[in-house]
Amino acid sequence: MTELKLVKGIQARHIKIFIENGITTAEALAMSGFKSITAMDGIGEATSKKLIWNARSALGMTEFKSISKFQENHEFISTGSLNFNAILGGGIETGFITEVFGPFKSGKTNLAHTLCVTTQLPKGKGGLSGAVIYIDTENTFSKEKIKRITRRFGLKPEDVLSHIFHARIYSSDHQAQMILEAEKLVKEKNVRLIILDSLMALLRAEYIGIGMLPQRQATLNQMIHALSRIAESYNIAILVTNQVAQQIKGMFSGIDAIGGNIVAHGCQIRVMLKTKGFAANNSLERKAIIVDAPDLPPEDCQFFITPAGIADTEKIDFSSMEENIEAKFVMANDEFTLEKIRGIGKNIMKKLEQIGITTTEQLKDINPDDLAKDLPGISSKKVKEWIEQIPA
Ligand SMILES: Nc1ncnc2c1ncn2[C@@H]1O[C@H](COP(=O)(O)OP(=O)(O)O)[C@@H](O)[C@H]1O
Ligand SMILES: [Mg+2]
Repeated sequence: MTELKLVKGIQARHIKIFIENGITTAEALAMSGFKSITAMDGIGEATSKKLIWNARSALGMTEFKSISKFQENHEFISTGSLNFNAILGGGIETGFITEVFGPFKSGKTNLAHTLCVTTQLPKGKGGLSGAVIYIDTENTFSKEKIKRITRRFGLKPEDVLSHIFHARIYSSDHQAQMILEAEKLVKEKNVRLIILDSLMALLRAEYIGIGMLPQRQATLNQMIHALSRIAESYNIAILVTNQVAQQIKGMFSGIDAIGGNIVAHGCQIRVMLKTKGFAANNSLERKAIIVDAPDLPPEDCQFFITPAGIADTEKIDFSSMEENIEAKFVMANDEFTLEKIRGIGKNIMKKLEQIGITTTEQLKDINPDDLAKDLPGISSKKVKEWIEQIPA
């Protein structure tokens, strides 16, 4: 991240205004649109244009680059169902907004809860060793559900709960405010997923009738833009849930997400959830359908809602989940040292030191088979597990 003060021509009073409006880095300024910056009190059109352009040129955004230099470092978070992960190309993807829409009871909130836990799993186990922000507009967050999911994945409940940052939201402007607040937390707490459950509930209740539609869409547009910018600037995943309504398009009618084109175009990955048959039946089987994604075919899959979150089967056997993976947190500015690796204690540290390995960099470069030979009682599989935990 680049500090705002490094943008050419920026003054202290501009920085103050930007920070008040949630723009705290040069990247955030550079990714903003002219209109949203001009709309801030105290920033005129000429200043707005000059500062945005200067921020962009400072960050190399005003040049075309050869595609060979293109960086694609997107990562994935497990949904809890391997089938669901497969149609998503690996899971919920960082850098993008994923919109999950479906009728009441289709599993949106259960998916959101499952992701609160799986995001905290280590890399290589379905997670990103990251914290989660939960923006809750429907008051459906359940700590008990989180604890059950935590047990299923063998994590420690206190650890997991302490890395979920929750805010209950009461109005649409509160929602917009907390989206901007979330950005601050992302920088401080190694957040890798922001959940907004749900996107439209408050907007739908507050802006009633066709006359208020333009205002509603303007507010929505701002929120989606802010989220999209946060997803991209910090390479984190964003999950928004959405309701559906019967929509009539010319001669046709069908179920569609609400929010119109702004939501449809603003969310890069769109997934529809369906209850099987009639919502009235008691089955907990659900269907997920990829509706739109830049690089995924329009596939669908089955999954289940269970007491311990989203899964591939109806019943989860808790007894087989005794592996007990401890979540280890790598805070944004913390250095990742050898003792942070799960499975490496004092004894092994000493042995590694005798062989000359004192940093994660050295461990990463070593052949697991060779190292296992030097460490009695340690398999090369174990060494591989250590290496997998080292962040890139
Ligand atoms: N502990 C549980 N065990 C099994 N099913 C559950 C449990 N909790 C909720 N469900 C089921 O999940 C469904 C609600 O899912 P939810 O994720 O809240 O839907 P949405 O957010 O899409 O409205 C209901 O059908 C409910 O029966
Ligand atoms: Mg819900």
